[in-house]
Amino acid sequence: MSPFALTRTLPLDATTAALRADVSTGLTRSPKELPPKWFYDARGSELFDEITLLPEYYPTRAEREILVARAGEIAEITGARTLVELGSGSSDKTRHLIGALPSLDHYVPVDVSESALRGAARTLLAEHPALTVHALVADFQYGLALPDTPGPRVLAFLGGTIGNLRPAERAVFLAAVRAELAPGDALLLGTDLVKDERTLVAAYDDAAGVTAAFNKNVLTVINRELGADFDADDFDHVALWDAKEEWIEMRLRARRAVVVKVPSLDLAAHFTAGEELRTEVSAKFRREGVRAELAAAGFELDRWWTDEEGRFALSLSTPAGLPE
Ligand code: SAH
Ligand code: AVI
Repeated sequence: MSPFALTRTLPLDATTAALRADVSTGLTRSPKELPPKWFYDARGSELFDEITLLPEYYPTRAEREILVARAGEIAEITGARTLVELGSGSSDKTRHLIGALPSLDHYVPVDVSESALRGAARTLLAEHPALTVHALVADFQYGLALPDTPGPRVLAFLGGTIGNLRPAERAVFLAAVRAELAPGDALLLGTDLVKDERTLVAAYDDAAGVTAAFNKNVLTVINRELGADFDADDFDHVALWDAKEEWIEMRLRARRAVVVKVPSLDLAAHFTAGEELRTEVSAKFRREGVRAELAAAGFELDRWWTDEEGRFALSLSTPAGLPE
């Protein structure tokens, strides 16, 4: 078998159809809203990688600290032969794990960004030529069709990306993940933790403006894919902390009244001055909440590790029975 295979579970036209549906619904509802997965074309994936290097954006460094400290333990507990990773991006932190898993022979990165998957596979195969990499271009929220690889399997979902799903979406998602796992498999989940508002807002509104560019990239994607005429300069990047929901919300706020045409959808979206388009939530968690969400999906939380400063948590869970 070739050490690299790339499978698209979503044909390109299905991706465009999904974007059309999301834009058509999202720009005509009130408040206007788009799902965050559309940030990640090749440029969006690059911008996210830049975000991970920003002084204000602590989650990547905090999670890396935990992975480096715990990779040996994770290897010992799981004995993984297959590592599946959802929303794998550059797989940069995952390399610490891959290097530490002595029995690992299959890596299955799953991402909507084909450019990120190809870049990651190139780097990984250069470092681990014996590893079989089966990359999947797929939306992890809709029908995971994982290849048949040897167990035990660890399914990793890192970076705090689970926080980009709303609570009801997380419940559906975790149940689907649970259905993919057999006894002896494990879920490795990264969750960013609730902390002071200043630290949180700074992480999503950095001084260099990289997060603002990342947020506005969704407009470029819609212009390119659907022929829309968004002018990014008409919008301001907004990041705010919702203390009740315990999530950061990113929005794009119209600087003036704007009409955006999306000819391929026969749509003219009207923004009043100050009107906001919601582009992302990034939920922050507490241990008890994570445990409860996992339990509701049929997982038992076995390990909970944080970085020294207690900013971020990595947890290891195993399939259990569903609650009565
Ligand atoms: N896991 C990496 C990257 C996080 S960025 C890290 O911890 O640094 C989030 C990643 O998830 C991006 O690569 C993005 O393309 C991917 N992604 C976002 N929504 C997705 C979806 N619905 N299905 C599959 N991949 C998705
Ligand atoms: C991918 N995800 C966990 C990031 C986050 O922190 O919610 C995406 C991001 N949005 C703005 N900065 C980073």
